[in-house]
Amino acid sequence: MKKELEKTLELAREEILEVLTHHDLMQLKSRFVGKKSVLNNFMKKISTLPKEERPLFGQIVNKAKEELAEIISNREKEIKEKEYNRTLQAESIDLTMPGRKREQGSLHPITKVWREIEDNFISMGFEVAEGFDIEDEFHNFDALNTPHDHPARDLSDTFYIEDDVLLRTQTSTVQIRIMESHKPPIKIIAPGRCYRNDNDASHSPAFHQMEALVIDEGVTFADLKDILNIFVKKMFGDKIESRIRPHFFPFTEPSAEIDIVCVNCGGKGCNVCKGQGWLEMGGAGMVDPNVLDKLGIDSEKYVGYAFGLGIDRVAMLKYKIPDMRLLFENDLRFLKQFS
Ligand code: PHE
Repeated sequence: MKKELEKTLELAREEILEVLTHHDLMQLKSRFVGKKSVLNNFMKKISTLPKEERPLFGQIVNKAKEELAEIISNREKEIKEKEYNRTLQAESIDLTMPGRKREQGSLHPITKVWREIEDNFISMGFEVAEGFDIEDEFHNFDALNTPHDHPARDLSDTFYIEDDVLLRTQTSTVQIRIMESHKPPIKIIAPGRCYRNDNDASHSPAFHQMEALVIDEGVTFADLKDILNIFVKKMFGDKIESRIRPHFFPFTEPSAEIDIVCVNCGGKGCNVCKGQGWLEMGGAGMVDPNVLDKLGIDSEKYVGYAFGLGIDRVAMLKYKIPDMRLLFENDLRFLKQFS
């Protein structure tokens, strides 16, 4: 039995030194020195020995137990220290490393210009109105005096979702919605997204317009010219002139297009304005009395003007952006120039 004990001790010493984790060590501990351990089994077997041998063997087993307990506790300290060092290493911070840079976002150039235009008109007493991106033919065409055979209704220009359901091609739809629900005097702007099947350096299939509508007694074309001039100067500085040039829109009479002096060359003619000296910014006109009458506004009493500015156009002019598509590609190298 003594030999057997020696063997067990030998085995225990080896295994304890080989064990690597605290968990495994605790399992060894209960196997060798715990209540149901091998050493306790030896204790139980003492009664099978001759009487005179029992005290001595008891002492030997106790000593073995003490020895193993000590080896285990030493090994436990070692393992704990190693585990502690390992976590320290894993969680260590290299204070000499450069810090992680936090990128700061900024407003998109269109958002900036949108807000700036909005603020300019709010400061001149306009209220901001909203319409819908998805519209019907009545608000996008019929009520705006656009005949059924007008080329703008064509599938190649307009994105139709279903018969009579379309993505609005202009913010002029909001003119109609406001006239349906409000009595004059009316003085609103309506910024928003518009959609047309167009895609090149100066057209995007989804673009932004800022509509304006003023209806009151005694409003004149001179008021329209005046407000446009004030706006252009607020937006581009005192030196920039604007002009209006005869044009046609079905819902205004007379109609005009709004130009500003080329921000690049100041009017001399360059490649940005294609030698013209002027750049186009939107459409305008006096609201056709027909439109007013159809919406129940007395055209004998009230007169109105309206205009629609291309927000993306204004952004291109303001920041001298050569291609509209740059505004929608969201290339950070481009966008960071506006932060
Ligand atoms: N809605 C017209 C367009 O998109 C612009 C416009 C607005 C013209 C208001 C006259 C009056 O081309």
